[in-house]
Amino acid sequence: MNSPLRLGIAGLGSVGTSVVRLLQDHSGNLQGDGGPVEIVAVSARDRNRDRGLNLDGIAWHEDPVALAQSDEIDCFVELIGGEDGPALSAVEAALSAGKHVVTANKALLAAHGLRLAEAAERNDAALNFEAAVAGGIPIVKTLREALRGNTISRIYGILNGTCNYILTRMELEGITFADCLADAQKLGYAEANPTFDVEGLDTAHKLAILTSLAFGTRIDKQAIFVEGISSIQPEDIIAADELGYRIKLLGVAQRTESGIEQRVHPTMVPKDSDIARISGVTNAVAVDGDFVGSVILSGPGAGGDATASAVAGDISDIARGDRIAPLGRPADQLAPYRRAQMRAHEGGYYLRLKVRDRPGAFATIAKQMADAKISLASIVQRNRRPSSSAPRSDDFNDQPVTIITHDTTESAVRAALQGIEAEGQISEKPQMIRIEKL
Ligand code: HSE
Repeated sequence: MNSPLRLGIAGLGSVGTSVVRLLQDHSGNLQGDGGPVEIVAVSARDRNRDRGLNLDGIAWHEDPVALAQSDEIDCFVELIGGEDGPALSAVEAALSAGKHVVTANKALLAAHGLRLAEAAERNDAALNFEAAVAGGIPIVKTLREALRGNTISRIYGILNGTCNYILTRMELEGITFADCLADAQKLGYAEANPTFDVEGLDTAHKLAILTSLAFGTRIDKQAIFVEGISSIQPEDIIAADELGYRIKLLGVAQRTESGIEQRVHPTMVPKDSDIARISGVTNAVAVDGDFVGSVILSGPGAGGDATASAVAGDISDIARGDRIAPLGRPADQLAPYRRAQMRAHEGGYYLRLKVRDRPGAFATIAKQMADAKISLASIVQRNRRPSSSAPRSDDFNDQPVTIITHDTTESAVRAALQGIEAEGQISEKPQMIRIEKL
């Protein structure tokens, strides 16, 4: 029998604990053509915490960097998290020492993935990160291996369970964004800082990695246009429903004539599309390839056990001796990322304006749209009358107007909205949600 693959695991939070349990319960599953897998050492912040694990016979390291470069291990499993700090130092130390690395750390890879891939290749080590994108869904392996024969035109997905949970509940129960977020936090879905989830940053980290794998380009998270879901109102959800759409926070990377567009924003998707049916905390990633057509994978995007499943798959590949360039191609063959500017984005738009109820308001809207060469698919005034018991406010005459445009450009829509605002015909910042063609 081959000698065992000796693992050092750093970070024993919910994912780390599940990884240890999985490896102890299912060690036989990971034994393919390679040797067995053995946890020889761990490192975590609090040694005395009861995690319900049997760590007898496993060495304990206070310092993850010391564990990462220790002679005791062949493979370092980084489950600490965070873009910099101990996670980065430990992964760099492991790769420099020629250790294989498995990580679930999306922030680390989005920021330093190219440099770490180069270090892994230089040191003849594996760098596997299936768990960093969409938890238990095997999208990294799918892009890196199974779909390699395709030229990919677009990859998009629901990559944040917290946002999808919030939008699903807003739709089903008609409750506000703030109430849903509070529940997501209680249930433990949201990141420690929920801004990361709801403002789209978590999705952007995952999209940065997917874009590199799908298009063979260097990771560039700075080039992602990011807009979160905190401005979505129940009335947008209702309007979307009436118009045949659902609102989802999508991460989208798309090949265009001027480069690759990377964007994260609330998106209207047709209700009968596969992605629209993904509800609650579930994630999904769809890939459009020239030979395969459209492929969609869905499943749990977070949670200790689901993420541990992805980590175990990565460990198994290393134990079997499967090696692949971390980003699918050798790092020096990755193309520089060419960014398509968001203002050139083409598509349909949903706009919601709070329009002052006075003569000429619609004429102004129509003129500004025409001046920007935007053709309207629909314009609806959703009359709102104050109930007799409600206090009268100065703006009770302001009426919500929803507009759906035909395909146009982002710059045209922005110009039209600026013109409408400048004419003083609306009493609130306009709402704008992009429509994705599926
Ligand atoms: N906070 C993330 C989510 C999970 O809500 O999907 C890990 O990326």
